[in-house]
Amino acid sequence: MNWPKHGGQPAKVGRQFNSKETNRSDWIDFSANIHPFGPPNWIKSIVADSMAAISVYPDPEYEEASRRLAELNDVSPDQVLVTNGGAEAIFMTAKLFEGKRALIVQPTFGEYEQACLHYRVETRDVFYDNGFRVPLKELERQMAWADVVYICRPNNPSGTVISERDIRVLLERCEETETYLVVDEAFADFVSGTDATLTRMLSQFNSLILLRSLTKMYSIPGLRIGYLLASSTITAKLRCWQVPWSVNGIAGEVVKALPNDDPFVSEARTFVKEELVRVRERLTELRFYVSPSQVNFFLLYDLDAPNKTEELFAFLAKNSIIARHTHNFKGLNGHYLRFAVKSAEDNDKLLACLAAWRHHV
Ligand SMILES: Cc1ncc(COP(=O)(O)O)c(C=O)c1O
Repeated sequence: MNWPKHGGQPAKVGRQFNSKETNRSDWIDFSANIHPFGPPNWIKSIVADSMAAISVYPDPEYEEASRRLAELNDVSPDQVLVTNGGAEAIFMTAKLFEGKRALIVQPTFGEYEQACLHYRVETRDVFYDNGFRVPLKELERQMAWADVVYICRPNNPSGTVISERDIRVLLERCEETETYLVVDEAFADFVSGTDATLTRMLSQFNSLILLRSLTKMYSIPGLRIGYLLASSTITAKLRCWQVPWSVNGIAGEVVKALPNDDPFVSEARTFVKEELVRVRERLTELRFYVSPSQVNFFLLYDLDAPNKTEELFAFLAKNSIIARHTHNFKGLNGHYLRFAVKSAEDNDKLLACLAAWRHHV
């Protein structure tokens, strides 16, 4: 089996299990963890109306876009760096620590390690426990070694959120050990409540660097929009290193138009929260472990057939359902599958298929 590095490639994965049906297109893709309903209409209209933006260079400083993001996050524009997706923001932080040392809290998104490798940052892993709780004491101890710690909050692939109290402990420790804390908030839009993001901690801790992405909530992986929030000293350095015109003009137009309190976002949050409760209840009845996720995806582990994850993956694929394998998430080693929370209809298909699997094994 040729396991792809990222989700969102249903046909490529599905074909490997259904080799005779190469032209199939009816895959239900649970492997990509983006908003289930596609982009909002306001983004579609801006993209449709932005033809003029392709025949001019974008503003190399992205001043208007940075100002809008600063307003929305209540920070100064010089604390904002607009990036070509969250992925560029991740790579830019690794550049900041070129040749130094990073701790990565695992299992998590593989691009932190990839970016560190690219910039020759030496890495060490610290692992969540079985319930995806952060190993606070061990992290505090290892921080004396590290120049930077990477934490994904909410974490991909578990969907779990480290408490604000634990983050504060780590930031206080950062001050003692002169370590930076990079927190990837790519999925923070899906979390309700005031501690969904750590933005207000930026004014208290210069060591905090936040990474954001518009990809997940707005379902726009093809537009490539992300940004980074940090002290102005850090963003000034990164601005000098960023590839010129890294963010395309159409993406820039979307950022400038980002609304306050977008109802699309609050509706998505409510929908995902309710669906997650419903799906978790049914899966628990069916004797599957579901990670204590707060967002639009979760990890699943078959309590009755823990050694049959690959068979389960194949069973789902034969029924048009594509899960995200976990072979390249450190510590999970393929024993779990990750699923997005999709429309109620698609979630029902998943639940029916997993119930059928119960009778099958
Ligand atoms: C945790 C996390 N951060 C960042 C990204 C990158 O997102 P993008 O570059 O599309 O904004 C992803 C994509 O899967 C992700 O899972």
